[in-house]
Amino acid sequence: MYTLALETSCDETSAAVIQDGRRILSDVISTQVPIHRKFGGVVPEIASRQHIEYVMPVVQEALEKAGLSLAQMDHIGVTYGPGLVGALLVGVAAAKALSFALDKPLVGVNHMEGHIFANFLSHPDLEPPFLCLVVSGGHTQLVRIEGYNSFVLLGQTRDDAAGEAFDKIARVMGYPYPGGPQIDKLAKTGNAEAIAFPKALHEKHNFEFSFSGLKSAVLNYLHTQEQRGIAYNPNDVAASFQKTVVDTLVEKTMDAASYCQAQKIAVAGGVSANSALAAAMEEACQAHGYAFYRPEPILCTDNAAMIGCRAYYMAQDGLFADLTLNAKPGLAISSAPLRH
Ligand code: KG4
Ligand code: ZN
Repeated sequence: MYTLALETSCDETSAAVIQDGRRILSDVISTQVPIHRKFGGVVPEIASRQHIEYVMPVVQEALEKAGLSLAQMDHIGVTYGPGLVGALLVGVAAAKALSFALDKPLVGVNHMEGHIFANFLSHPDLEPPFLCLVVSGGHTQLVRIEGYNSFVLLGQTRDDAAGEAFDKIARVMGYPYPGGPQIDKLAKTGNAEAIAFPKALHEKHNFEFSFSGLKSAVLNYLHTQEQRGIAYNPNDVAASFQKTVVDTLVEKTMDAASYCQAQKIAVAGGVSANSALAAAMEEACQAHGYAFYRPEPILCTDNAAMIGCRAYYMAQDGLFADLTLNAKPGLAISSAPLRH
């Protein structure tokens, strides 16, 4: 079974060919990061235009690398949300055109579910059920994966996503977009105990997150130091901020794991590429006796391979879309209500 997958939700134009759901035959990622960098973040209109230019070339390259033709594909998976509407529309329109022209079934994929499924690509033996912390540029969520097509959203952020806070703080400190990897690097030689930043919503069994207070506290600290003419140590700021985020993410994940008696814990999304988060999560999992899973770094950030994996498991259950499929920028995870 061959899946052709497309991903254009933000600033990566990507196409992949996946065999039987878990084997990556090709995963071509054309990044727009250098283009958006001079604006300090993703410019939606520019992102859409770049996707239009690159979407078919990446599909072509993905097929060439896989050594397969369009005619050999069994279905076409595409991200239809959440993300930037104009960016999503490009992938959705391309996938619908291919589906119609080739008479191949279409699968509409939720980008966040795709991130979770990156774990299936990196860990061939992983099977549901497991608990997943999904941390990206736009989302922070704790999700229980009960089956390949059955999820329960335990909680998510009330305001900023973890990645958003990383990006904003790095930007104010003068580092280029995207800020997450910059903070990760700076923090390696910083003192994580140097500055005490506040944690929010840390009561037991509260699976919601809030990072806007922390973001403001770090920005206030930077501005105050500047106004006083005191040079701050960027490594200490990065390390102290990162530790506050990581501690919160790990504490809440461990709390959720005991709450839903999970045996396996996974992380997913761009921020799961963070080295301190991976180390702290691994240590906590070991201490509690949980198995820990993380996609390899290239599969943590946006890519079409994860979308292909998710599409395959949807296709297995006949979860196909028709040609009315549209971009849904605010698409929520397809979660069943939480049972207490
Ligand atoms: O999942 P992703 O590629 O795109 C979205 O769906 O949002 O996530 C991008 C986010 C950005 O905020 C970026 O700064 C963050 O992931 N990120 C990191 C690291 N690598 C990427 N954050 C912290 N540490 C990293 N090493
Ligand atoms: Zn993403």
